[in-house]
Amino acid sequence: MHWKVLTFLVCLYGFLKEYRPSEAYLSAYLTGPWKNLTVEEVDNEIYPIWTYAYLLWLVPVFLLADFFRYQPMLVLEGATYIATWSILLCAQGVLAFKFMEICYGLVSATEIAYYSYLFAMVSNEHYKIITSFTRAAILMGRFAAYLTGQLLVSFNLMDYKQLNIISMVSVSLAFILAVTLRRPSHSDIFHFKNHDKNKDATNKELDNNIGFSAIQESSNVEKPTFKRGILFLWKELKTAYSDKSVIAWSFWWACASCGHLQVQNYIQNLWEVITPEDQKGTIYNGAVEAVGTLLSSISVLVLGFLPVNWSRPGLSETIMAIVCVFNTAVLTVMGQSTNIWVSYALYSVFRATYHTVITLATLQIAKSLTRQRYGFVFGANMFMALVVETILTVIVVDKVGLGVDVQTQFTIYGGYFGVIGCLFLAVAFCTVYKNGCSCRVASDKIYNVSDPKPNIA
Ligand SMILES: *[C@@H]1O[C@H](CO)[C@@H](O)[C@H](O)[C@H]1NC(C)=O
Repeated sequence: MHWKVLTFLVCLYGFLKEYRPSEAYLSAYLTGPWKNLTVEEVDNEIYPIWTYAYLLWLVPVFLLADFFRYQPMLVLEGATYIATWSILLCAQGVLAFKFMEICYGLVSATEIAYYSYLFAMVSNEHYKIITSFTRAAILMGRFAAYLTGQLLVSFNLMDYKQLNIISMVSVSLAFILAVTLRRPSHSDIFHFKNHDKNKDATNKELDNNIGFSAIQESSNVEKPTFKRGILFLWKELKTAYSDKSVIAWSFWWACASCGHLQVQNYIQNLWEVITPEDQKGTIYNGAVEAVGTLLSSISVLVLGFLPVNWSRPGLSETIMAIVCVFNTAVLTVMGQSTNIWVSYALYSVFRATYHTVITLATLQIAKSLTRQRYGFVFGANMFMALVVETILTVIVVDKVGLGVDVQTQFTIYGGYFGVIGCLFLAVAFCTVYKNGCSCRVASDKIYNVSDPKPNIA
């Protein structure tokens, strides 16, 4: 199949799986007359399960996705989406929705396969196009979903249950599409391509290390050995994290992502609580999420084209510190305010600024890594983010911990960003101070300049 056709099909898959108009109304649906759950049950019992499930699924899915060469994982993703929406449409009671969150955690974890599949199918020269297209497909799917969801609700054409049926149809189509896709012949960890000189070198080196040097594979593709793969991954991660700046930026990336995930997960509950009873029928969740998606895409694009040298010492750190302190104010006000419009506006701003910050961090991480290593580091960083998020969820949100109400939660997330902001600020000061005049050394340390860099939104 021609690579352009394949790219189109995979992007269509991405669009369909993200086209879920019900997404912005999940809390409203669960607490509405269809399921009759209370906000406390949704907030302190059901939603926390997603975080735990995501954390537990992440590592096995990351390894299995590579071991089975991605395509089966796309099928699994589609199937799990269907399972999630079947429960959402048919089941009743807290326990059923806890189980749904376990499925949804699996869905989130399998997203890795979507991004990796095309890289394994298409030759490296189309790397940049593929990266932007797969990301754009996801964003367009979400944007279209939020927009249609909002229009259908605002014009009283559909209720939340019917929106969920549209989502179900869309993810089912995605599943069918995934089944028809071919499996690539190689992957990043367990199935090397032998004719790639670079990888071959790493591979031989690894073989020497673990005593496989005598085995000369004649086939084009290495025989998959789980142990060999794990060792290879471990080595790659150790090499990637031996760069101090990768460690530092990964740490920021994980902390900021964790805060953002928490806000995104619980924002609907906050709106559910502060929406006046007589306006429950006309909420604007979809519109706000659509605007947020659009603003974030624009700010990320602008950041990519701005003629600024981001490796200037202290610059990125200062921007991130400012944004974090700003987010502290935003989230604290959101936690205290009972005005839904203030909350909508602040949330849009929060999202746009977060995406700007995270793109900066991503650029800083990616600039010294190859595409493969970037994938491994990204997986590890996500794991770190989920560990922090799990700790935060157990202590603050879950019924077994403090189990605070959603408004207090947002105030706490504000404090969380405040702490990160102060750390950034301290680092920024140190960097500027240390690099007073000899600033060129650090920025010249970029190696692998010719490597394609991921263009992350
Ligand atoms: C939810 O509560 C409403 C009002 O009390 C009731 O009419 C409806 O049948 C209930 N739905 C379910 C699924 O229990």
